[in-house]
Amino acid sequence: MKIGILISGRGSNMVAIVEAVQSGSIPDSEVAAVISDKTSAEGLIKAKERGIETLVITRKGRTREEHDAEIIFELKKRDVELVCLAGYMRLLSSEFIRAFPNRITNIHPSLLPSFKGLDAQRQAIDYGVKVSGCTVHFVDEALDHGAIISQKAVEVFDDDTTESLAAKILEHEHMLYVEAVKKIVEKKVITVGRRVVSAKN
Ligand code: GRF
Repeated sequence: MKIGILISGRGSNMVAIVEAVQSGSIPDSEVAAVISDKTSAEGLIKAKERGIETLVITRKGRTREEHDAEIIFELKKRDVELVCLAGYMRLLSSEFIRAFPNRITNIHPSLLPSFKGLDAQRQAIDYGVKVSGCTVHFVDEALDHGAIISQKAVEVFDDDTTESLAAKILEHEHMLYVEAVKKIVEKKVITVGRRVVSAKN
């Protein structure tokens, strides 16, 4: 399956997916392109170092729809079937969602539906939860809202800070995202309404 990855920054989840594809732990797949909306995204260098084609498609004062149309065009041109958002900091237009039905995934550093949006780890610390974690979900038009593919809980200790919690969650993000992409590629999950469940063969 051809995979396209969208980033805006560091790109550590992107690297985890690229390395899993290149090592064969995500089978029969290729990362066709890494696209960033930010010229300065550190992940661009990491993708190039791993031999992946990179594109920078900035918004350049265009509407969300115009910007997304260019990204959709580049993904379709490369026959991308699965789009993984990995720290991509923009909401997608409905045109984008419709162009890849149930084929856009995202990772979020909380147990959704808790702590949507920015600074999820800070929100968790400020709220005082004892358990947080990460979620891989399909993307719909609402922020951090689509059907949940998988989640991993992480304990919050008394001496955790936003930074230490973020670091702990990030380690699990990399594993969780790779596992989720593998399940999709291997067609081991199907979506029934809002629920993503194991496919019974
Ligand atoms: C991750 O914490 C991810 O959950 C969130 O943005 C961060 C991206 O980190 N959506 P990276 O760019 O993958 O290193």
